[in-house]
Order: sequence, then structure tokens, then C-alpha cells
Amino acid sequence: MYDINKIREDFPILSREVYGKPLVYLDNAATTQKPLCVLDAMRDEYLNVNANVHRGVHYLSQQATDLHEAAREKVRQFINAKKIEEIVFTRGTTEAINLVASSFCESQMKAGDEVLVTEMEHHSNIVSWQLQAQRLGIVVKHLPITDDGRLVGCNDITAYITPRTKLISIAHVSNVLGTINPVEDIIKIAHEHGIPVLVDGAQSAPHMKIDVQAMDCDFFAFSGHKMYGPTGIGVLYGKEEWLEKLPPYQGGGEMIDKVTWEKTTFERLPFKFEAGTPDYVATHGLAKAIDYMTSVGFDFIEAHEKELTRYCMEQLQTIDGMHIYGPVVNGSPVDNKDAVVSFNVGDIHHLDMGTLLDRLGIAVRTGHHCAQPLMDRLGISGTVRASFALYNTKEEIDALVAGIRRVSQMF
Ligand SMILES: Cc1ncc(COP(=O)(O)O)c(C=O)c1O
Repeated sequence: MYDINKIREDFPILSREVYGKPLVYLDNAATTQKPLCVLDAMRDEYLNVNANVHRGVHYLSQQATDLHEAAREKVRQFINAKKIEEIVFTRGTTEAINLVASSFCESQMKAGDEVLVTEMEHHSNIVSWQLQAQRLGIVVKHLPITDDGRLVGCNDITAYITPRTKLISIAHVSNVLGTINPVEDIIKIAHEHGIPVLVDGAQSAPHMKIDVQAMDCDFFAFSGHKMYGPTGIGVLYGKEEWLEKLPPYQGGGEMIDKVTWEKTTFERLPFKFEAGTPDYVATHGLAKAIDYMTSVGFDFIEAHEKELTRYCMEQLQTIDGMHIYGPVVNGSPVDNKDAVVSFNVGDIHHLDMGTLLDRLGIAVRTGHHCAQPLMDRLGISGTVRASFALYNTKEEIDALVAGIRRVSQMF
């Protein structure tokens, strides 16, 4: 059973106070809190195991390597990848996308070729491609969205595909709108045109069961810190056939086979893409976070977070001047809406709302959420964003709603 009080005990930070008020942490799309099992495992590794991985013959190094590689296998199972060779550890989603942008554009694209993203992307899935556009003369195009924050109908997507489209890169879930994009449909259409697809899973991996084989994406990127794991660790999944084709992203230790002044050959997958000492303690922490989520269960996580989203939207709409962004039908979240609710109230500036909510102990995010082109599309400078995790409660949403009412009355 989903015993929320028991779950909250696993996250001691949730019982702290700020400004003398109980903390209400609703900034989970930015980063989640970490359960004790993750913190304990990482502390234990530093205390009892710590040694650099892969290179050592000694006991500690081998033990650290075993933990690190066990984490890779854990990630493989978590997203149902075929092989561990397809799991590349990165610093996070941003680095994973930059890796593909750099290696794919350089090896597979020519000036004038196109990458197609969407109008609701996080900057990491825009600027990474723009940097390559500056370097190589490729073109970054975007799929438009509807006023209520959905992608244009899937069939229309073909209208944006040209013979020069070489890659499609899309968010699985929008970090602002909560829209769950129909990635399977898009991937099917893309593959009919021979185009690979990268899915930015930063906002989906924490909330739903991911199966990269069923999805059939070519690349999938996500961050550990948004799913109860440590900061500084993330994952790039890539189909083996693609990773084999791409050149290394960075040079250094760990990623080579043989180095001479004349020629360097590279390690096998996935090490070819992992230059330098990896954050092997963080990979172990990530494995523990996956264990934690699995033990709670995705059925429970999904049902609980959907109910929180529904309840939040229902309650927010009782407030005068409330404007919620993203897919809504008759005031309720639709099925393609995840644990993120972005809103503004009347003409109260989002920053004022966030700052005053903070004084009441309520942590929300304000601003453009690293999605300025989306803000331009919506004709706003920013929103207030409440985002949920498996440990949030309806009482916390009541506190948010009461807080917004109080702030609204001050204006
Ligand atoms: C949809 C999306 N993509 C990418 C990122 C970047 O993630 P990170 O900063 O962990 O690399 C975020 C972070 O908020 C995100 O929400």
C-alpha cells in the first residue's frame, strides 16, 4: 500500500521548516529530494569503498567498479534497454543531449541539413542544436504547438519533415505545461522517413515506466537528480547501431583503446563516450534511487501523481483570475498531462507570487523555466510552476491554494 506518511519519513528534509512554517516542497520538476537509502548508500561508498573505477587491480577499485557497473545494469533494466553497451553515463540530460548534438551533427549532417525540435522544449534541447548550427551550418526547425500546449496533430508532423530532416529531438513531457507528447506516434512517423528520434526524458523518467524498446526511440536522455537520485549524474541511452556510428564526444582517460602520437583508437561501447573519471558514487546513488522508485511501484507513483495534478487543477480554478497553461479539458487535466501545473493569477507577477509563497513556506518555481521560446509563444514572461513528486500530499496542495488566495488578496 502507498503509505504516504511512511514515504515522507524516507525524506527527512520534508519535515523541516522555513520561516517558521512547515516546508511545502512543490519544485520537483527542478529537482527532487533524496531518500535516506540513496544518501546512506553514497556515504557508505565514500566511507568504505572509495577508489577510482576500471583502472585498478586492487580490492577497493574492483569493488567500486562492480558497484558502478551494477548501476549501469540497473539503469538498463529500468528503461528496458537491450544491452548495457547502450547505457552511457553523463552529467545529466543536458550533457546527454549535447553529446548527441555534437557527435551526431558532426558525423551525420551537412550544412543545410535540419534538426526538428518542438516549440515547448527546454533550452537544453534548443541551444545544444543551435551551437551545432553555428558550427556546421545546420538548421534548427520547430514543430508548433496549439494554444493549450499540445503539439500539432501527429499527421501534420509530416508537413515539417523535409528530405533534409536528419534528426527529431523532442521532450517526452514538457517541464512547463506537463504535456505528455505522443512520442511513440512521432517515432513511428519519423522512422517511416528514415529519421532517428531523440527523446528528452528529463520530465518523464521520474513519473512513468519507460521502455525504450517499446518506444523504439533512438536516443533517450534523463537526469538522476529529478528522480530521487544525486545531482551530477544522468543517462544517455542510444541504440547500439547509432552509438557505434557516432564519434567520441570528449577525449581523455577511460575512453581510449590505444594512444600513440600517430593515431588513437577508442574503447568499446559505452566507454567510448565516457571520458575521464566518472561520478561512480553518484551512479551507485542513482541505482539506489531506481530501487527506491521500483519498491514504491510505478502504478502507485503514476496514480498518486495524477490524482495530485487533478486535485491541484480543480482547486486552483476556484481562485479568481487563475490562468492555467497546458492541456485542460473542462477544467480537468487530460490524460496527456503530467505532474506539472503552470499558472498565473490576474496580473500578479509570477516572481511576486513565488516570493510571497516562499514566505509561507511554499517552494514553487517562477520565471521562464528555461523555455523562453515557449514563453514567447504563450505571450508571457513566465509562470508560477507547482510540480509534484511521489511524496507530495493533498494537504500540501491545500496549503498552496490557501497561500495563493492570501497573496492574491494582498494585490
Ligand atoms: C524537459 C527538460 N529537459 C532537460 C532538462 C535539463 O536537465 P539537467 O539540468 O538535469 O541536465 C530539464 C531540466 O529541468 C528539463 O525539464
